Amino acid sequence: MTNKPLRIALTKGRLEKDTVSLFEKLGFDCTAVREKGRRLILPIPDGNMEVVLAKAADVITYVEHGVCDIGVVGKDTIIEMEGKFFELCDLGFGRCRFALAAKKGTDFYSGFGVKTIATKYPNVARKFFESKNMDVDIVKIEGSVELAPLLELADGIVDIVETGVTLRENGLEVVEYVVPISARLIVNTVSLKLRQQEIEELVSRIEEALKNNDRA
Ligand code: PRP
Repeated sequence: MTNKPLRIALTKGRLEKDTVSLFEKLGFDCTAVREKGRRLILPIPDGNMEVVLAKAADVITYVEHGVCDIGVVGKDTIIEMEGKFFELCDLGFGRCRFALAAKKGTDFYSGFGVKTIATKYPNVARKFFESKNMDVDIVKIEGSVELAPLLELADGIVDIVETGVTLRENGLEVVEYVVPISARLIVNTVSLKLRQQEIEELVSRIEEALKNNDRA
């Protein structure tokens, strides 16, 4: 039995806040994470855990390489990156959808020319259009993908839609929803074997708390 803290890679930002609230519901003291300042590795001493704050794609990298045992990351990044790890549970928060969107009032599927699609998620976009047997040019954009059709770089975008406000305020609309997304708990394959009991206990406490949320 090891005493090393269980290391959890946590996606910075929205998922971080929801995960901290969940852990507090489980009774863990997350003061260090709440008062982190610029620190990136924070202890949760009463849970023998350590939180590592990272960008979504890096959460997967750290978990895959086994330098973090567990990760909290959006299904969007999981679908985009794939990789070797286990997905243990749906945390229920961070809900949004992948969607194909285009300028309002345009008929995206009309015409015969090859369409250009801007996206932060080229693999998701490629698979989506492959499933339709549709040939498209994909342009990778790093942020605010909604700009691409406005600047006439792309005919459409494949991106995350949560409230729909960003699309609406920029004169775009959903053409088709691709897949629903939410935050997932992932685990390194070796950690799951070596620390099975601790991880399973944490997961069952999380699942219990989520069930209670649903009932509330
Ligand atoms: C995401 C996404 C959309 C926006 C959708 O961007 O890429 O731009 O949120 O949310 P809404 O439907 O509620 O308006 P994010 O805020 O992660 O920023 P980014 O574009 O800089 O990645």
